[in-house]
Amino acid sequence: MSDDLIAAADMVRARAYAPYSGFQVGAAIRSASGAIHLGCNVENVAYPEGTCAEAGAIAAMIAAGDSEIVEVAVIADGSAPVPPCGGCRQKLAEFAGEGVPVTMATVDGQTLRSTVGALLPGRFGADHMDRAAPGAP
Ligand code: THU
Repeated sequence: MSDDLIAAADMVRARAYAPYSGFQVGAAIRSASGAIHLGCNVENVAYPEGTCAEAGAIAAMIAAGDSEIVEVAVIADGSAPVPPCGGCRQKLAEFAGEGVPVTMATVDGQTLRSTVGALLPGRFGADHMDRAAPGAP
């Protein structure tokens, strides 16, 4: 089932704009509608302004009108499957349940399967703000 998602992520990886790191990453998200949403990393000469592939795929999903992630694939040219960075784990967790599968892949065919929950144990969630008082100083 993840093969089509990995292939889609690999296709968009080639479009990544990564002149500073030289490390192109592709991400594909399957949403509950069955649609596949793609993203690649987009770097910037002001380095912190660069964005990760996963963030791009999430933005594409939201722009398409979907908001529930059911599967994720990430691919890069590494010696081992590249995991989503910490920030992207939190971004994915916003729209994915703990059991959502994440396939990490290399362009030479290695894969590693995990889940959003396993990648981000103890995630920060809305329930941690149960005493928040919006509008208070
Ligand atoms: N990168 C991603 O796109 N996703 C990740 O989860 C890991 C890192 C990108 C960001 C940057 O453009 C390059 O890989 C090197 O860090």
